[in-house]
Amino acid sequence: MAKQEDIFKNVVSHAKEYGFIFPSSEVYDGLSAVYDYAQNGVELKKNIREYWWKSMVQMNENIVGLDAAILMHPTTWKASGHVDAFNDPLIDNKDSKKRYRADVLVEEFAEKINQKAQKEIEKAKARFGDAFNEEEFITTNARVVEYLSKRKEILERLAKGMTDDLQDVKALIEELGIADPETGSKNWTDVKQFNLMFGTKLGASAESAMDLYLRPETAQGIFVNFLNVQKSGRMKVPFGIAQTGKAFRNEIVARQFIFRMREFEQMEMQFFVRPGEEMKWYHHWKDTRLKWHLSLGLGKENYRFHDHEKLAHYANAAADIEFNFPFGFKELEGIHSRTDFDLKAHEEYSGRKLQYFDPELNENYVPYVVETSVGLDRMFLAVFATSLKEETLEDGSTRTVLELPAVLAPTKAAVLPLVKKDGLPEISRKIIEDLKWDFNVAYDEKDAVGRRYRRQDALGTPFCITVDHQTLEDETVTIRHRDTMKQDRVKITELRGIIENEVSMKNWLMKM
Ligand code: GAP
Repeated sequence: MAKQEDIFKNVVSHAKEYGFIFPSSEVYDGLSAVYDYAQNGVELKKNIREYWWKSMVQMNENIVGLDAAILMHPTTWKASGHVDAFNDPLIDNKDSKKRYRADVLVEEFAEKINQKAQKEIEKAKARFGDAFNEEEFITTNARVVEYLSKRKEILERLAKGMTDDLQDVKALIEELGIADPETGSKNWTDVKQFNLMFGTKLGASAESAMDLYLRPETAQGIFVNFLNVQKSGRMKVPFGIAQTGKAFRNEIVARQFIFRMREFEQMEMQFFVRPGEEMKWYHHWKDTRLKWHLSLGLGKENYRFHDHEKLAHYANAAADIEFNFPFGFKELEGIHSRTDFDLKAHEEYSGRKLQYFDPELNENYVPYVVETSVGLDRMFLAVFATSLKEETLEDGSTRTVLELPAVLAPTKAAVLPLVKKDGLPEISRKIIEDLKWDFNVAYDEKDAVGRRYRRQDALGTPFCITVDHQTLEDETVTIRHRDTMKQDRVKITELRGIIENEVSMKNWLMKM
């Protein structure tokens, strides 16, 4: 089995064993691509949400928050384009009865060809060393040229088929000889569009019930409230509205744990700007959002931008911030310049004006919008998977440590009496009573202290505070640092300051 797969399996099992994430309704064998956040997961998720909220809302005078309802008037989704265009092309295998996204099957095939080209490039790099000119090699080596042009041709045909005629996508799958990845069968149905929105009903009787959708993104709640917020908050363009909340998509290919779920949470911000100024703000937000990610210290090399060449119908520029997940670089956040598409569409469908009077220009206009949209669950996965480490210590033993950024750790400190007698538990409880107003702290008296340290390491707790017999004499304790395992003897009165220094959002966000 590939090493990457092992790492990922380890992430999933650690998340379950240490109370971060459970499969939904597991007693009934779970529900595909739906997960529950457990006692530690819910704290980590809350801390990520707060870290985002603080940097977006609290730190920006011109950005305010919103919590719009999940259920919205159904015309919202007609106006936004989701009823007509929020589709994935799906294809069934007639023999295995398995369902796939047709575009993903073709893209994966094209990626395999790309990997062959990359292998040739790597081989040549090793052979020629410093003298290697990659650009020249890519354009002159016959095999690489053939691989790359074949890949380009496939992706172009796919893009054309997706917009013109889905039957061409089926023809492409057959021509390339793409087989069901699980069974090898090539017996395919036609490709059909499948809308990703979950439908539900509002109303008591079947006849009078109104068809509704569970929102597939939080953004539309912001758009339809644009004027309410602007007027009640006397906001001046440029300004932003931020929101976190659940979104629902009936994903066809829902794998990779919490990376692609059917019920997930988004953290979105719509920034309303003067028409013509959107590109300036698009670049500003691309830059600012990357800095926010980097402030968490998960490693610069784990992020990259992917600028979109093919744009969605509402955008005039778009980029993803991709993260190096255990299964490779994948989208973590999207930054989109959405033009005035959404506000104009809501004006058209509602018959209400959604315009702003700009006192400096002395004119009315529909603002343009730059959106930042990050998946909270994907952030969780990025942070959790990157932090999980197996270390070999100097004495040859190993330890599992979850090196979470301290600002996000579910529990900031564990207080451990060395023994369960001689008044040590009482002092430990007193320390907890004092610290718990400011930090999430835990008490642990079970097992030998070494085992307790290991347990807290695996939970990602940045500090262990040990109360021993010396504490009785001089009111000092040892404080052990999770990552270095270094222990310092400090006064009980110093604890708050030491912890605060490591976990305060201010100190982390100042790195932006
Ligand atoms: N309002 C824009 C929008 O929704 P998107 O690229 O479809 O854009 C934004 O989604 C972010 O939401 C993604 O970058 C990803 O982090 C997250 N996301 C989207 N679909 C998801 C899913 N099925 N499961 C988990 N996260 C998802």
